[in-house]
Amino acid sequence: MSAPLLAVSDLVVSYPLGSALGFGRGRTFDAVKGVSFTIEPGQGFALVGESGSGKSTIGRAILGLVPVASGSIVFDGADVAAFGKRVPLAYRRQVQVVFQDPRSSLNPRRTVGEQIGQVLQRHFSTGRTETERRVCDLLGKVGLGAYFVDRFPGELSGGQRQRVAIARALATEPRLLICDEPVSALDVSTQSQVLNLLASLRIELGLAYLFISHDLAVVRQVADVVAVMQRGRIVEVGTSDTLYEAPADPYTRLLLSSVPQPSPLGREERRAARRALRAAPA
Ligand SMILES: Nc1ncnc2c1ncn2[C@@H]1O[C@H](COP(=O)(O)OP(=O)(O)OP(=O)(O)O)[C@@H](O)[C@H]1O
Ligand SMILES: [Mg+2]
Repeated sequence: MSAPLLAVSDLVVSYPLGSALGFGRGRTFDAVKGVSFTIEPGQGFALVGESGSGKSTIGRAILGLVPVASGSIVFDGADVAAFGKRVPLAYRRQVQVVFQDPRSSLNPRRTVGEQIGQVLQRHFSTGRTETERRVCDLLGKVGLGAYFVDRFPGELSGGQRQRVAIARALATEPRLLICDEPVSALDVSTQSQVLNLLASLRIELGLAYLFISHDLAVVRQVADVVAVMQRGRIVEVGTSDTLYEAPADPYTRLLLSSVPQPSPLGREERRAARRALRAAPA
């Protein structure tokens, strides 16, 4: 088998603890306590777990935004932990991120075209005509027409803004896309449209995903492998099918039991139930 795209081994990430008065200074809190997993090229890998379990911290460590206390992160042979604060541009090109809230990740004072164009120029030094062509191309990939080039983020719906954030992330032609709760801020019907888009982009572009979510139902559409996290550790890993059909860990079972199931009533039964409701006195 070929080498994985990303290999995370025994990763520990700590945050400094300490009050404003200086008590406890020097003490640290391990948000990630020895996590290991690999992501193959083109694979959809999901981290699922309750709030505070350390999912985003793992994403931040891979992006080089927080230091690695111990363990290693190796991307395509390169030691990410050794980058320190100077993450090379070539690495940033290959590993991109989409966050939950595009309102805070997009610049409200720049048009969609300017923001995507800026990324293209920084990474590929494209000229003006080539930049314009690629911006339209990228917007097309996420289902937005040329009309959106001159729009400001504030003029867009939540789903459209998230599509712009995805297009901007794709501008560098990454091999790994970290999606940290990318649909949590969207309403349910927009969620499934954006998830469908992410799923088809993965196939079209051969992208690998690290998909972070607290919601197992959301993850099923986009991940082949799901790792369940609890308090800084991975408690269960499985292909999405085995994990959903036969969860071994009690915590996974608990998470699954909170996933809404489709209505058990058939169409006729639902109609009958509605008729009965209408007939009932108010
Ligand atoms: N900058 C920070 N300084 C100190 N502690 C932090 C910092 N960021 C996160 N933490 C703590 O680290 C733990 C893991 O946080 P993290 O954001 O990784 O969780 P998460 O699984 O992404 O949660 P959520 O689902 O709420 O986004 C939490 O206990 C959190 O309070
Ligand atoms: Mg998080």
